[in-house]
Amino acid sequence: MAENEPQAALYQHADPLDALNRSLPLERKLLAIHEALSAEFEFIHRISVAAYDTATDLLKTFLASSPGRNDLVRYEARLSESPSLAEILRTGRSRVVEDLDIFRSGRHTHTQIIAQEGFRASYTVPMHLDGSFWGFIFFNSRARGVFAPPVLKTVDVYAHLISAIVTTEMLAVRILAAAVKTAHDLVHYRDPETGTHIDRVARYARLIAQHLAATGAADLDDAVIERIFEFAPLHDLGKLALPDRILLKPGLLSDAEREEMKQHTVRGREMIDSIAHNFGLEQLDGLDLLRHIAESHHETMDGRGYPHGLHDGQIPIESRIVAVADVFDALTSFRPYKPSWSNAEAYAWLRKLARSKFDEDCVEALAFNANKVQEIQAQFREPEAPTSASDAIGSGG
Ligand code: C2E
Ligand code: SIN
Ligand code: SIN
Ligand code: FE
Ligand code: FE
Repeated sequence: MAENEPQAALYQHADPLDALNRSLPLERKLLAIHEALSAEFEFIHRISVAAYDTATDLLKTFLASSPGRNDLVRYEARLSESPSLAEILRTGRSRVVEDLDIFRSGRHTHTQIIAQEGFRASYTVPMHLDGSFWGFIFFNSRARGVFAPPVLKTVDVYAHLISAIVTTEMLAVRILAAAVKTAHDLVHYRDPETGTHIDRVARYARLIAQHLAATGAADLDDAVIERIFEFAPLHDLGKLALPDRILLKPGLLSDAEREEMKQHTVRGREMIDSIAHNFGLEQLDGLDLLRHIAESHHETMDGRGYPHGLHDGQIPIESRIVAVADVFDALTSFRPYKPSWSNAEAYAWLRKLARSKFDEDCVEALAFNANKVQEIQAQFREPEAPTSASDAIGSGG
């Protein structure tokens, strides 16, 4: 029927920003925005986005529309040490630099790299969400003197579009973190494991992850390390589903009880899936990390762990990291069914089982940081642990 035929003449225009309609990583969306913008202003050669973390005063470039050099993409600096960027914040206005030569004497490596890459002009926009500063958007050009007022009128609209898509993702991450925190609080109502156990495991996991990244043993970027730190406390979320007679048993578990107890891994993953589903966050980047930590933290390198008997590289690195952090802390802590071990005993045990049960790199990463481990133990002590247990922790090596 003619009525149902689309009238082709009305549909000539293809939306250049159609990519924003789809579920795509932020990088891809930024690329689409860059393409649309450079169709209008071909001299805009790079767009990058740096997020600001108030707690650490760190500014990190986390998105860039041209791959560029790695040190540039991963650029990270304290805002307080970057006077010209701090000044943008102070004035609260966007900044046009028509000739980046004025920064040539700048001591910041990224300033040098920007110049070496051939960028000659920049437009920097400070971005806010509900009144609080969250980061900068940079527009760079290889030509000098290109950011004239009529250009900026359009670029500003694009900057706000970028800000909108970035903050949408930031809010999603914040919602997941809130959901996760809530679940974590709920675990506390039932799990006899204390809050300080959770605090320590999270920090041991971060120590291990940072060491693996620093030595190149694993390819973990800052965002992933931060997520491992955030999510490690939830490794035993599934214990919520265990009956009291197992969860709260003062003595050793029978074989049948052990089998039931092993279900806490799969239950944990199911609970995370359901949280993600209920919050509409199934697509969220980083969710797999949380799933793996809950489901696979009792897998062992020799394939004799649970729940699936995965082995070696089949076990996600985040799960291997949390396994070492969790067992180290379980060993060095008092439990109703066991006394606490000294740190030296715990390292010796982990080393003995490195390769067969635990990832050797993870074990060595923790042992290498023995001093920091002690600092963590001093900072997050068991509040009501028996004296003998705290003695053992204090004298551990
Ligand atoms: P958890 O207490 O956080 O212990 C985590 C893991 O640390 C254990 O995983 C095990 O690999 C190691 N671990 C803990 N205590 C000891 C120990 O005394 N000796 C040795 N060699 N390793 C130890 P696993 O065995 O799969 O247990 C998972 C969870 O099941 C434990 O978490 C705990 O909540 C519970 N559980 C395990 N065994 C017993 C038990 O005999 N009695 C009770 N009441 N609960 C147990
Ligand atoms: C970057 O573009 O990644 C660093 C920030 C700048 O352009 O100064
Ligand atoms: C700086 O690192 O503070 C200079 C570079 C810039 O402001 O874009
Ligand atoms: Fe567990
Ligand atoms: Fe645990």
